[in-house]
Amino acid sequence: MLLQNLLITVAGLCELSTVVNAVQSYQKIEFSNVGFTGSYTPVDSIKNPDTDKCSCSVGSKEWFSGDNAPISEAVSVHFRGPLTLNQFAFYNSSSFTVGDSSSSSSWNRVAYFNAQSQTAENVTFLTKAGTDSPVLGKALSFAGSDGVSSSTTASLLSADTLIKSDDEYVIFSNVSCPKSSSKNSCGVYRDGIPALHGFVGDIKMFVFDFDMPTETQSNSSSFDYFDMPAIWLLNDQIPRTSQYPTNANCSCWASGCGEFDIFEVMNGTERNNLYSTFHTFQGIEDLGTGIQAGGYISRDTSNSMKGGVVFDSNGNTVVFMSNDTSFDQSISADSVNSLLSAFSQDEAYSTKLATISATAPSSTSKSGAHSLFEKGAGNLWFYAFTFLTSVAHTMLF
Ligand SMILES: *[C@@H]1O[C@H](CO)[C@@H](O)[C@H](O)[C@H]1NC(C)=O
Ligand SMILES: *[C@@H]1O[C@H](CO)[C@@H](O)[C@H](O)[C@H]1NC(C)=O
Ligand SMILES: *[C@@H]1O[C@H](CO)[C@@H](O)[C@H](O)[C@H]1NC(C)=O
Ligand SMILES: *[C@@H]1O[C@H](CO)[C@@H](O)[C@H](O)[C@H]1NC(C)=O
Ligand SMILES: *[C@@H]1O[C@H](CO)[C@@H](O)[C@H](O)[C@H]1NC(C)=O
Ligand SMILES: *[C@@H]1O[C@H](CO)[C@@H](O)[C@H](O)[C@H]1NC(C)=O
Ligand SMILES: *[C@@H]1O[C@H](CO)[C@@H](O)[C@H](O)[C@H]1NC(C)=O
Repeated sequence: MLLQNLLITVAGLCELSTVVNAVQSYQKIEFSNVGFTGSYTPVDSIKNPDTDKCSCSVGSKEWFSGDNAPISEAVSVHFRGPLTLNQFAFYNSSSFTVGDSSSSSSWNRVAYFNAQSQTAENVTFLTKAGTDSPVLGKALSFAGSDGVSSSTTASLLSADTLIKSDDEYVIFSNVSCPKSSSKNSCGVYRDGIPALHGFVGDIKMFVFDFDMPTETQSNSSSFDYFDMPAIWLLNDQIPRTSQYPTNANCSCWASGCGEFDIFEVMNGTERNNLYSTFHTFQGIEDLGTGIQAGGYISRDTSNSMKGGVVFDSNGNTVVFMSNDTSFDQSISADSVNSLLSAFSQDEAYSTKLATISATAPSSTSKSGAHSLFEKGAGNLWFYAFTFLTSVAHTMLF
């Protein structure tokens, strides 16, 4: 209770000292101060995966820190319909600062997909069409060319493939995981899946050319996400174990290994508004609600949209929608900065994430350390050292 009051007071002060505009449409959604020191617990065993006796356990804490953490870890790229993907690209850079090209390097394309030309570099389409489990849900399988059927081998998504409400597929890289083990680079994963690495790098950019037309089927209670398309990133361990488990220990999601929603419709009331949200513990206790920008990008239901997200070296995460989005093999720092600075002040919405004061244990010990992020009393410390997410509609760059 005391804690609640404290939070409300701090929130009130924030509102007084900053201009908070009504929720409206923008072309660019910025987050600053992204990345913190924290930990999560990876899954370390999955027993009886295909039965209702399925149980999972988690291992000792895995610590992360630095810019963009924990989204600095490898991520898989997820799509939900109604959606058609025309192009996708993933870039890395050795250094990139939003608004400062002089101290930035260019972006190198590491993965690419073009549906029209059926060009694919370093991408694998998977979907949840494998063995069903009452606890883990359906396992990942290779996706057929329709994006949602199961295939025994990797296939490319056909041009103009429109997936419907609730349908999902995932893009991973084409690099296979080693054997499932908490000691190996992909950690423990579900038996029988095509296990691949997500996209690696703390400084990264994802761009998309896509359509999100209005769902043509009628709404009914059989839908979970009727006419709620989305494109989002998950720590790649999540889908390899279970994306929607009934037991939270069957995925590292609940302990905060990381999700970032790039373009996501949140509900039927705002079906044409695309929100961006961090589901990390950087200043919140309720991971499910996450840290959502108080502005959105409009969903164009009749034209293709181009846009994406940049995670820079300086704690900036910028989601943008622009027809000038490039999919070239190499993109100069200046081009990306020009693209991002082309928006006027009232087309940009900025959110500063909380500063979290925690230190990972020095030494290699990954267990036994008292964590500020521990559920229960630990949260008091967590908030005591936390500035509430401060939201300011300002032009930072
Ligand atoms: C970008 O990715 C490529 C391919 O994985 C890798 O060789 C290169 O070292 C990466 N560059 C940076 C700066 O991470
Ligand atoms: C992965 O993609 C790269 C880039 O397109 C390609 O050179 C390589 O042969 C592919 N590897 C596999 C295992 O498909
Ligand atoms: C494909 O992407 C993965 C993950 O980012 C990377 O490790 C690998 O080097 C890339 N392959 C090529 C050929 O660039
Ligand atoms: C998850 O794991 C924790 C720690 O190992 C344990 O205390 C908890 O009971 C488990 N939860 C479930 C639902 O199995
Ligand atoms: C729909 O989602 C937006 C963004 O999260 C939220 O502000 C709004 O309250 C939601 N509306 C309903 C009816 O749940
Ligand atoms: C679809 O129906 C659900 C209730 O089953 C409702 O919550 C949702 O807002 C509806 N979506 C639209 C776009 O009307
Ligand atoms: C982007 O291009 C589409 C056509 O693909 C067009 O309909 C739309 O108006 C353009 N958006 C902007 C902001 O220029």
